[in-house]
Amino acid sequence: MLGVCYYPEHWPESWWERDAREMREAGITFVRIAEFAWSRIEPEPGRYEWDWLDRAIAVLGEAGLRVVLGTPTATPPKWLIDQEPGILPVAADGRTRGFGSRRHTSFSSVAWWRESRRIVEAMAGRYGVSPHVAGWQIDNEFGCHDTVLSYGPEDLHAFRFWLEARYGTVERLNQAWGNVFWSMELRSFAEVALPAGAVTETAPAARLDFQRFSSDQVRAYCRMQAEILRAASPGHFVTHNFMGRFTEFDHHAVGQEIDFATWDSYPIGFTEQFPLDEAERALFTETAHPDMAAFNHDLYRGVGRGRFWIMEQQPGPVNWAPWNPVPKPGMVRLWTWEAFAHGAEVVSYFRWQQCPFGQEQMHAGLHRPDRSRSVGGTEALRVAAESRELGDLPASAPAPVALVFDYEAAWTIGIQPQGADFHYAELCVRWYEAARRLGQDVDIVAPGASLSGYRVVLVPTLPHLSDAALAALRDTGAALLIGPRTGSRTAEFVIPDALPPGPLQALLPARVTDVASLRPGLSHPVQGALAGNAIRWREWVETDASVLARFADGTPAAFEADRRTYLACWPDAALLAAAMRYVLRAGGAETIELPTGVRLRRRGAMRFAFNYGEQPWTLPEQAGSEQAGRTFLIGGPTLAPQDIACWRE
Ligand code: GAL
Repeated sequence: MLGVCYYPEHWPESWWERDAREMREAGITFVRIAEFAWSRIEPEPGRYEWDWLDRAIAVLGEAGLRVVLGTPTATPPKWLIDQEPGILPVAADGRTRGFGSRRHTSFSSVAWWRESRRIVEAMAGRYGVSPHVAGWQIDNEFGCHDTVLSYGPEDLHAFRFWLEARYGTVERLNQAWGNVFWSMELRSFAEVALPAGAVTETAPAARLDFQRFSSDQVRAYCRMQAEILRAASPGHFVTHNFMGRFTEFDHHAVGQEIDFATWDSYPIGFTEQFPLDEAERALFTETAHPDMAAFNHDLYRGVGRGRFWIMEQQPGPVNWAPWNPVPKPGMVRLWTWEAFAHGAEVVSYFRWQQCPFGQEQMHAGLHRPDRSRSVGGTEALRVAAESRELGDLPASAPAPVALVFDYEAAWTIGIQPQGADFHYAELCVRWYEAARRLGQDVDIVAPGASLSGYRVVLVPTLPHLSDAALAALRDTGAALLIGPRTGSRTAEFVIPDALPPGPLQALLPARVTDVASLRPGLSHPVQGALAGNAIRWREWVETDASVLARFADGTPAAFEADRRTYLACWPDAALLAAAMRYVLRAGGAETIELPTGVRLRRRGAMRFAFNYGEQPWTLPEQAGSEQAGRTFLIGGPTLAPQDIACWRE
């Protein structure tokens, strides 16, 4: 099903009816509104103006649309900030981040919680049982514009409280943070300072705890809104629209507070921001890299416990990346179908019409500022027609491959990268890409989640290996591929007594004795059953396991015991592809070698192919059957560039 984001407060009321009718005619079912409309809902303290929103909901609903109502807490109005300036977030340098855009709030402000409760209760009370409201979006993009961490007095107060609950005594805190180092020992929780503004680096364990605390604050805030909405709006879903490429809070945890996940997919913007090399970027700058959106689809399907939507789908150029190309014709359609192929229930475009004023005037919509239909709008119409033909899509089955994705790993490595280009999320996307290039469907799962039923499990790295994460790796029957730095820190950010990979030694006998980060241009060749180069990171390992490949000095680069393979470096593309082929074969997964720009995905009995590349691509014939064995529902066996195919086998 399709949806769209609409801002009735941006347009003359005389347009609403026609817009609503045209949305229905375009095959749109859901319309998300109101998430930034606080100043219109409550123009002055305590004076609510519901009439316009009542009418907007009625017009949209009567046209046959199902309304998704956003709680407007991403944009508290000026009067509220003047009344309660303590709501404002504070940057790490101590500067208060002011009013004038959005997300000017700290998750720890008591006044902010009180005011959030008040506006959410008011909205839920007014619309909780409206026949036109399908469900709720809590807030908008938690953490956008770098707003998870805040360094104000109330943040400090709440952090001390959190630490006291975690450690009980200040001695334990001193121990956990290693405060004897540089005489940082504290005599009470009241002496704790936020880990910023010191002369040089603050204690890594303190920063990790601040990140955990801040993530917990996001979760608690989300739960607070969810509880209000569930009480006042029974039977209506509650969700949140997460961001792509964002690791500042634990999405697996926040996902527990909502009914399903939604996320905002801007594949070309992400391709601009992702650290691709320039040749790759040039290849995909107008189509997006084929794994940019897909990785997030699979991640949020996991965060949503099997259910997700796209709440905002890029419809044309955006305004916020360093460069903002027009997507090649066909890409808006391709991205939409790809989201469906990965299990999305709804794809909702951002936005119905490009807004000629304000910060996002250069951001496309399904319509141009003069209301004419944009290229993206035309492609959305085509998707609507195609999905009418296809009917209901089957459920997604579990994938053969799981990739363990851990937010704490992102924080740990971000706090102590040790090499300027060791980026956790980048490593995970590269491993994901390597599996997808071999035709795999991938589930992205939290550490500690059950791994049973998978053929192959990928752990790009997991610096802290909890008991639950270790047990899941021990108990799965899958072949494992485990990356560098796994088991290299305890929960308190300490190097394990027996050296890395720490607890993993129970499954794989090895000791990492030394590590090096490798600057750009420096690589260490790897030879053996797997060949290529270590780039960015390399380890020296002693092991009794069976060695698959060695560095030039003879030390192991890849080794294995019981179908558990460890890769002692950041692999270049050749080495990663070799390791992926090896572990997929060990796990008994069927593989197919795909070109850089082509991806496959299965949804139930339906299979999809996507061509992001510049060359036509023809599906290889299946073993033992001809193309004729496939029933094509969209397209055929040869995909033109920027085209898709869907078939039943
Ligand atoms: C999202 C946000 C929207 C809009 C959009 C532009 O991050 O949720 O409100 O700003 O980006 O691409």
